[in-house]
Amino acid sequence: MSHKGFLIAGNWKMHPDTLGEAKAVFASIARKAKSARKTVVVIAPPAPFIRDLGGKGGKAGKSGAKGNANGGRPGIVRMAAQDVSEHHSGAFTGSVSARELRSAGAEYAIIGHSERRAAGDTGEIVAKKAKQALEAGLRVILCVGETERDGHARYLQTVREQVHSVLSAIDKKLARWMTIAYEPVWAIGKSYDSAPKPQDIHEMSIYIRKTAAEVLGKKSGLDIPVLYGGSVDAENAKAILKDASIDGLLVGRESLDPKSFGNIIEYADSI
Ligand code: PGA
Repeated sequence: MSHKGFLIAGNWKMHPDTLGEAKAVFASIARKAKSARKTVVVIAPPAPFIRDLGGKGGKAGKSGAKGNANGGRPGIVRMAAQDVSEHHSGAFTGSVSARELRSAGAEYAIIGHSERRAAGDTGEIVAKKAKQALEAGLRVILCVGETERDGHARYLQTVREQVHSVLSAIDKKLARWMTIAYEPVWAIGKSYDSAPKPQDIHEMSIYIRKTAAEVLGKKSGLDIPVLYGGSVDAENAKAILKDASIDGLLVGRESLDPKSFGNIIEYADSI
């Protein structure tokens, strides 16, 4: 049976330096996305580039979220914010709100990325950010993942707490706009052979869905889309997409390489 359609998301982090470079990389990815029949492609560029790269815009507070849990129809690259403020609006110099990002064209928001957690986002802050994003009509890609694999399975508890603290804080009616990205911190930004094996990702995806079900109930919890992220490249993506029973990938470095990211999209669309 062929797959119903993956979500392939690229997290550009703080790259590239200029809008011109961003447009060049984006144009190439957009061409690939256009020929995808079932794969939803999402790019999270630096926030100032969202509008220029073709964010569709949207009225803050009005959900642009339609279609299945993995996103709208394929063909167009969807824009994601890399983070949102935990506040609704107000005197928070330097912060950007979920509603502003939605208005600039973001349809998704990455929340709780390990680099934001390392910069000070606690579980409580991550939960507030997820709430703000959902209430602004953004789909949330919630990143969870342990810093290290200990021998006593404490890492499972870490992931469980990260999932619980967000899902128990949000309006359950909005839970269908949530995707969870399993991103073990020890596998982010490393060599491509350090990504976990598909079987291992498969086990974690089951654990994450079961954990989600504890909060959301069986139906919504077990159906929650799970992505994998951490040192994905065009090579290891194949086995992960084929054998890890996940709903897609969150790709860092390789999403700035149009050829490699394009190959990932093409492969995802072919299975
Ligand atoms: P990487 O980053 O693919 O460069 O490891 C993944 C991420 O941080 O989301």
